[in-house]
Amino acid sequence: MNNKNIPLSVPNFPGNERKYVDDAIASTWVSTAGPLIPKFEKAMADYMGCEHVVATNSGTSALHISLIDAGIGPGDEVIAASLTFIAAVNPIRFCGAEPVFVDCDEYFCMDPDSVQYFIDNYCEMQGGNLINKTTGAHVKAMIPVHVFGNMANMERLMDIAEKYNLIVVEDATESVGTFVTEGRYKGKHLGTIGHYGALSFNGNKVMTTGGGGMAICHDDVVRHHMAILTEEAQDMSKKEDNLLFIHTEVGYNYRMNNIAAALGLAQLESLEKFVKTKNENYRLYCQHLNGKNGLRLIPYTPGIRSSMWFYSLYLEDCKISRNELMEKLAERKIQSRPIWMLNPDQAPYKNSLCMPLPNARNYVDKIVNIPCSSNLTAEDVKIVCDEILDLTK
Ligand SMILES: Cc1ncc(COP(=O)(O)O)c(C=O)c1O
Repeated sequence: MNNKNIPLSVPNFPGNERKYVDDAIASTWVSTAGPLIPKFEKAMADYMGCEHVVATNSGTSALHISLIDAGIGPGDEVIAASLTFIAAVNPIRFCGAEPVFVDCDEYFCMDPDSVQYFIDNYCEMQGGNLINKTTGAHVKAMIPVHVFGNMANMERLMDIAEKYNLIVVEDATESVGTFVTEGRYKGKHLGTIGHYGALSFNGNKVMTTGGGGMAICHDDVVRHHMAILTEEAQDMSKKEDNLLFIHTEVGYNYRMNNIAAALGLAQLESLEKFVKTKNENYRLYCQHLNGKNGLRLIPYTPGIRSSMWFYSLYLEDCKISRNELMEKLAERKIQSRPIWMLNPDQAPYKNSLCMPLPNARNYVDKIVNIPCSSNLTAEDVKIVCDEILDLTK
């Protein structure tokens, strides 16, 4: 039986992390005013091939400022994902708006058919706006999530958005390093396709700044507004506001700090290496497990170079239950976790409007996420697979 602790997903600091953080501390620039924050923004923008980004203190705050800039407020509805982390939904409520939950596709991402079902069965166009006939609300936006490093079907979702005048806020918090290799959006990084995008650099993500995020948009005015929102809505570019503490609206303390940016700059230098390891380990898991004991790894969306953030083992026809497998793996020092409980089943959203969820409900108790850290070795993968095969035989 295995004796080595194998965690699910831990940060990996193989390069200049300590040096850049030490330098930031030595400079005494540790808060949101430091020079490494714009430097990190420029480096990420160059990496993703986009121009307009705002570094934030979390992915959640990046989503929130995107929705504020998009004008989402009370009386509005936003089409939201059922099978994802709840942070992709809560910012809708921060704005006083309501989510409408739709199903996922075979890659856990927002299903365009389910979005269309909602529109066809509940909505009508009135004066260029999509109106929910049952609630009278203006359906103003959708938040597709690129779950686990997959890609939502952006071609179809963007077509739907254009037809019904919807704003698209891409939640790319789980897919940093993932870009499109085929089709209409070939070459684009996830998060740069919709009207807004959000990234996360939380501790368990492909690359980390400790805690942090980034909002992506497509013009100077929007970028300027979102940047101001992260700093209590004080417009430091105007000399008089800078001196007199003039605040143009309700703002937030959402800016990334300089130490986080230092960490981010070092992590970005290793990102491609992390993605390579994660891709290699995914292939090893597939070789060891696919088709054995009623198990298979869920594939990533075709037509992308995925960062493969999290691996999803599907217990299709397995002798033991998902929860039993997780408990037994923990006894053998291997950390795993279930996929999230569905958002419409969570306390804050029990009364929210929800479309039928055949796919999400099928996945919810059959998926287990298995170790996927970017420093996981081929030997570690073999140990995890041997234990899984032993427990499911
Ligand atoms: C789908 C999704 N949305 C939003 C977030 C929020 O990101 P953060 O933890 O950086 O606030 C996360 C991550 O943790 C996430 O997985």
